[in-house]
Amino acid sequence: MAKQAADKTAASPASPITATATLRARARENIEDGAITDSYAADRKMVIRLLNDALATEYVCVLRYYRHYFMAKGMLADSVKAEFLEHAQQEQAHAGKLAERIVQLGGEPDLNPDTLTARSHAEYKEGKDLRDMVKENLIAERIAIDSYREMINYVGDRDTTTKRILEEILTQEEEHADEFSDLLDGWVG
Ligand SMILES: [Fe+2]
Ligand SMILES: [Fe+2]
Repeated sequence: MAKQAADKTAASPASPITATATLRARARENIEDGAITDSYAADRKMVIRLLNDALATEYVCVLRYYRHYFMAKGMLADSVKAEFLEHAQQEQAHAGKLAERIVQLGGEPDLNPDTLTARSHAEYKEGKDLRDMVKENLIAERIAIDSYREMINYVGDRDTTTKRILEEILTQEEEHADEFSDLLDGWVG
């Protein structure tokens, strides 16, 4: 028993973790970098740029969903309107998560409306009628799904927090696309 206890407290040369004294000394350097430490392995500038492109995409989607929510007309409008509104709010929440992460990484969220549509992956399509709106939203969600998947692959395990945020968003974009796909499948009229 006594030997076991001694082993537990002894510094193990095989430990994969940096020695405590070094961890403590490193943490005191560059404290202005906040949550970002020397062990951050990704290209921070590139990650911020990708997150800002995703942020622009989310805002274009928020605007498109609100436009569709207000303009939806026809037999199915009530149920579809509710989807548009819910998605608008969820895209807004995605934007919030992205903006918070950009700031944590030492960047600034780019919310300049002048350049929003040019920076967005997805398009602002008004849609001719309710079915066309649903179709355009399905297309926009499919664009978002592809771009998030590529970002996740790029970031990989070099920035697991950003990766987890992107994965959570991707899960919801897939749900959005699935809902519209079901709607289009069962479309009458
Ligand atoms: Fe989104
Ligand atoms: Fe979405």
